[in-house]
Formats: sequence, structure tokens, C-alpha cells
Amino acid sequence: MKRTYLVHLSQLATPTGKTARKGANMAQLTEIADAALLFEDGKIAAVGTTEDVLKSAPPTADSVIFDGTGKCAVPGFVDSHTHFLFGGYREKEFLLRLQGAKYLDLLKAGGGIQSTVAATRALSKEALLQLGRARLSGMLSQGVTTVEGKSGYGLDLSCECKLLRALKTLDREGPLEVVPTYLGAHAVPQEFAGRADDYVTFMLEDVLPKVQEEGLAEFCDVFCEEGVFSVSQARRLLEGAKAMGFRAKLHADELAPSGGAELAAALPAVSADHLLRVSDEGIQALAESPCVATLLPGTAFCMREPYAPARRMIEAGCAVALASDLNPGSCCCDSVPLLFALAVLQMGLSVEEALTALTLNGAAAVGRADRVGSLEVGKQADVVLLSCPSYAFLAYCTGANLVEKVWKKGVAVYERETPHAGGF
Ligand code: NIG
Ligand code: FE
Repeated sequence: MKRTYLVHLSQLATPTGKTARKGANMAQLTEIADAALLFEDGKIAAVGTTEDVLKSAPPTADSVIFDGTGKCAVPGFVDSHTHFLFGGYREKEFLLRLQGAKYLDLLKAGGGIQSTVAATRALSKEALLQLGRARLSGMLSQGVTTVEGKSGYGLDLSCECKLLRALKTLDREGPLEVVPTYLGAHAVPQEFAGRADDYVTFMLEDVLPKVQEEGLAEFCDVFCEEGVFSVSQARRLLEGAKAMGFRAKLHADELAPSGGAELAAALPAVSADHLLRVSDEGIQALAESPCVATLLPGTAFCMREPYAPARRMIEAGCAVALASDLNPGSCCCDSVPLLFALAVLQMGLSVEEALTALTLNGAAAVGRADRVGSLEVGKQADVVLLSCPSYAFLAYCTGANLVEKVWKKGVAVYERETPHAGGF
């Protein structure tokens, strides 16, 4: 395979390591001026100053050389929590919530997730694939190179499998890597109304074995929240899933502190997500565990709820990741620029911490920190080129999409026709 060089980058900025960075280590980035990157066989073969890289691995006649003057390279972003595959939209519910309706009340009244379930069950796999492709290309244009996608809008066996098979097809099609998560425990389906325990049994006995047999999901997730699935139901499901070889994730402490973070730390789950209402004990438990605390500020913003206590979590030593939570209900938003803006300007993360949260720690939250999430020799060449001279612009140039070009496994997979007109 041809060698590709990016040379004379004004800056290259990346966290380093093969595991999530915790606490104060989140702010430690490697920054290189007049930097270069070399890709070979889909992987990063060299990284350093332009002078050093060109000296240690001189280009050959067929090498591709790309001039990065005035630009900044960062790792491809990892959006580690999304529900991007769904039918229908819920804009009417959004308007009702603006007038004061409550999210869980809409769900209890058969709306909310249940209405997306009805719309999703009605779609063919092909129709879902079309929606998925369009949504993934929107994410790619914002620099996302790895994305987690959850089922959870089918709930019954056939529609959950349809969603997971579609995620698998989208992953195979590329260029984004799609990490599949089974979220049957997103809501109790109408067929099991009032019988949440029986539904947990159904997932354990009927759905998960099938999902495992077909290799359709890596993770098992649960919406652990008062009025949805209790901590003990979540524990039973996730322990059973772990015994079948799935790794655990939890939607935890989003609307009320229920002990979800503590459960995630005890299992341990790979990530505990949302955490708007996490308790002090929950923060402590996460800080002492390998579980990544995935924060979804777009959801708090769209729901007009207080943000998760990100500063306290980092100061306690947690590994914090940031993700979009793209879904048709609580956060119909895939915006990476908004994530940076909210994380830095509203939650008090430094730009360095935010970058680590959306790259290496996001990669850890989907069990891929050994392969993606940083610009280091041996990792996948998943690279975002920003049309600005430093990563600080990700927050400073508030709300702007600065992504100019994206490489996935060393292949240029996206290029913006007219780069952001900041005139940097
Ligand atoms: O992460 N909390 C539960 N699940 C989604 C919302 C899904 C929906 O409303 O459709 C979330 O916010
Ligand atoms: Fe979610």
C-alpha cells in the first residue's frame, strides 16, 4: 500500500495510551508543532516533527504527500453513545416538552420511546439502512470515525435483530466503524406492560442467546431509571449478559440518583452514561473502577436539565468521555461542535480534557482504546484535519465545524468542498 504523509501541520494534538485517561491525566496532551504523520497499511507508521518523520522514513516516488500548513491534526472522534438508527421523529413531543410536559410522563402515556418503537417496527431493514447511511455521513463530516449504535427501538426479538443486523451492515459498508450495542432494556414493551421482570427474563432467555449466536452485538445496555428498569433488574440483565460474553453499559442516574453508577462500577461495566444526577458515592465508585463515565451534554441541553458534574468527576479521578446520545427523543442532535461548546463553556472541561474525552476515552468506552483514539505509531490511521492552526479553535470558534478532511484506516474518506471560512 502507498505511503501517505501529512507534513508541516501547524499542530498535531493527541492524548496517548491504550486505556482511558483518568482525572488529571485527561488534560495531558502531546502537542507537536510543524508536525508530520505517516500512514502505511491503514496504520500510523510514524508521528513527530516534519523533519524527524521525513528523515526516519523518506518518501518514495509513489508516496502521497499532503501539505498541512496552517492546519491541525487530531485523532478521529469516537461518538461512544448514540441511538442513531430509528424510524420517525418526535418533534411534536419536543414542542410539548417546551411547554412543560415531562419526558417520563410522555413515555408512560405510550409516547416517547414507545412511539419510536412503533415507527421503527414498521420500517424494513433496507429503509433503516438508508436512514443510517445518511446519518453516518453527517457524523463523518464532523470528524467522527468510530460510532456506537444501539438497538432499543424494536424491543421484540425480530425488530431488535433487524436493528442489530442493520448496524452490522453499516459497519461492513464503512467508512465509519459502527460498534453495536443491544439495548432491549430501553423500555418495557407494550406486550409486557406491567411485567418488567418477565421482560428481563425474555431478554435473557430468548433475545440475548440469538444475538450472541449471530454475533450481532458487543455490548448490552440498560436504561436504569426509576419507572423504567430498577437497579436490581439492570443487575440481573447485565450479569446474565456478561456470562454470555457481552460487555456491559448502563444509562445511569439520568433523571434521578438511583444507584446506577454504583452498579456500573461494581460490575464493572465498560461505561456508565448520562450521570446528570450521580451521587457522591457514585462518583467515588466510578473513580475507583475502570468504568468510563460517559457524559452527554447535548441531552442535558435539549432537556433543559443541569449538566453532569463533570469537574467533580474529573477531580475525583474518573475517566470522562463525551458523546452525542443522538436519538429522536431526548437529544435529536449529532453536533460535535456543540459538544465541545457545552463541555468547555458550560461544564468546565478544559479543551484538552474535552479532546481526550471525545477521542481516547470515547475509544475506551467502546473497548477500542488499544486501536483508535490517539495518534500513535501502531494505532489505526483515523485522523481529522482541522482548518485551523490549533485544537483550541474547537472550543474558541464556538459551534463551527472546522473539519476539513478525514482519514479512516489511512484512506481519505471525507473532504469538505469549501473549508470553514474562518480565514485562519
Ligand atoms: O439516552 N434515556 C434513554 N434513552 C435515550 C432517549 C431515547 C428516546 O427518548 O428515544 C437517551 O436519552
Ligand atoms: Fe442514550
